[in-house]
Amino acid sequence: MPERPGTSLNGKAVFVGGASRNLGSLICRTLAADGARLVVHYNSPSSKEGAEQTVEACKAAGGEAFAIQADLTRVPEVKRVFDETLNAYGSLYASVNTAGMVVKKPMVEITEAEYDAMMAVNAKSAYFVMQEAARRVEDGGKILTVVTSLLAAFTGNYSIYAGAKAPVEDFTRALARELFGRRISVNNIAPGPMDTPFFYPAEDEDSIAYHKSSSMNGELTKIEDIVPWVRFLLTDGWWATGQTFFVNGGYTTR
Ligand SMILES: NC(=O)c1ccc[n+]([C@@H]2O[C@H](COP(=O)([O-])OP(=O)(O)OC[C@H]3O[C@@H](n4cnc5c(N)ncnc54)[C@H](OP(=O)(O)O)[C@@H]3O)[C@@H](O)[C@H]2O)c1
Repeated sequence: MPERPGTSLNGKAVFVGGASRNLGSLICRTLAADGARLVVHYNSPSSKEGAEQTVEACKAAGGEAFAIQADLTRVPEVKRVFDETLNAYGSLYASVNTAGMVVKKPMVEITEAEYDAMMAVNAKSAYFVMQEAARRVEDGGKILTVVTSLLAAFTGNYSIYAGAKAPVEDFTRALARELFGRRISVNNIAPGPMDTPFFYPAEDEDSIAYHKSSSMNGELTKIEDIVPWVRFLLTDGWWATGQTFFVNGGYTTR
């Protein structure tokens, strides 16, 4: 009977995409406290300071960490990030990709440039990070991607955001099946509207009130509500694979 894979994060290398602040940063800091060795990825030059602060917080929490910059919409950059991860840590246990971008507009107003940018960050980068993770993650490892609870919503104005996250469900189901023999769990987490600066620029007072009223306690999802799911799926939750978990206080269900 094979041993149950990966139920401790102590000494395990974890790549976190989009980790300079908000959800990605809290994931790093939490896993560092479990003894994980973090790769703290950031993209924009303005995120460098946040990434460095996240590295320091990881070290203070008892983990190892280093920061790395990359535009994950470019496949050679994705490969470089994983090369550097393997060079630094010698192995890779898990990839957790939180990279994303939102535009909220009626479909008739979406430009070609917005379409291309949204597909690049939400779908293409998710695909190639998963692909490279599948090549590099050790047997018994984990691959997680953050999508959105809008995948279960019947609503307007998010056509290009939800539409660009939607393919990730199929990428995940396919990869999960392809990795059966290696006991690598591949899943998505779909948060509800989260109380981070990512959320507010796309919304107005009325829509914020609506989003809040659509959860069981009248509040937005907090990053602290999502991180325990990440931790669980990377450890004792290994038996779930090919799934999308809606973690949203009841905002949408399916
Ligand atoms: N906040 C919400 O309401 C909400 C709800 C449901 C799902 N989500 C999803 O949750 C995830 C985290 O969101 P958050 O609220 O924590 O906001 P956030 O901190 O702004 O996270 C988005 C991340 O995506 C990264 N990113 C953007 N373009 C990239 C690129 N070309 N290459 C690599 N990384 C890139 C950003 O890095 P740089 O800033 O360094 O470019 C940033 O770290 C996202 O996938 C988002 O779609 C958010």
